[in-house]
Amino acid sequence: MRQKLVIGNWKMNGNRASNTALLSGIVAGLNDFGADCAVCVPAPYLAQCQAELAGTPVRWGAQDVSIHAGGAYTGEVSAAMLQDFGSTYVLCGHSERRAYHHESNELVAQKTAVALAAGLTPVVCVGESLEQREAGQTEQVICAQLQAVLEAIAPQQIADLVLAYEPVWAIGTGKTATPQIAQDAHRLLRACLAQRHAEAAAGVKILYGGSMKPENAKELMAQPDIDGGLIGGAALKSSDFLGIIQAV
Ligand code: 13P
Repeated sequence: MRQKLVIGNWKMNGNRASNTALLSGIVAGLNDFGADCAVCVPAPYLAQCQAELAGTPVRWGAQDVSIHAGGAYTGEVSAAMLQDFGSTYVLCGHSERRAYHHESNELVAQKTAVALAAGLTPVVCVGESLEQREAGQTEQVICAQLQAVLEAIAPQQIADLVLAYEPVWAIGTGKTATPQIAQDAHRLLRACLAQRHAEAAAGVKILYGGSMKPENAKELMAQPDIDGGLIGGAALKSSDFLGIIQAV
């Protein structure tokens, strides 16, 4: 039985005061919900998370990582730096990075490998655009995104991945994928994993992301291959974030 996992992706939001309010609200409201939870925050706030979340059940991490170990790469943040601030997770290949920073499947795969090598848990994001869905290309697109990652890592490393299926048309739009649409994609992703390593595939958590809210979380999480959520907007309010964790 895979333990459910709920991760908040803060994107480029927050400041020190609002972060403290949000984090303390989450920690205070967390009961024994039986789900793991984490926040992926802008890199400057990793130190704040380390200071305010150490000793709590809430883990933290970043939203991107460099493929380089160090040196003359202005603006980049290395896996070792994320480690230095106690990060557990790092998002790799979020659709906003793929779209606005032209991250290719191969670059996302390299980032995933670098994160794994540093002992971080990469949360590999895949998902199709509306045009791709309407053109019947969903399976092809998300399998290719995953396949690039699988080619960059060893089969035994599959067990250390978290995947997130985030259909681009559902992100920040209020248009959630139906539980069936999401389940179909998750099942397909797990089948792709299983082709490389059947045993590991059964244990990999596949999160759903895209307009998940307390009201729709329960039905989504009830699907057999949906192991949690990657939450954007609703992760910025402790009551909404807790509501989703509670729905598990
Ligand atoms: P929303 O929950 O705001 O749709 O964002 C989802 C997302 O992109 C999480 O990474």
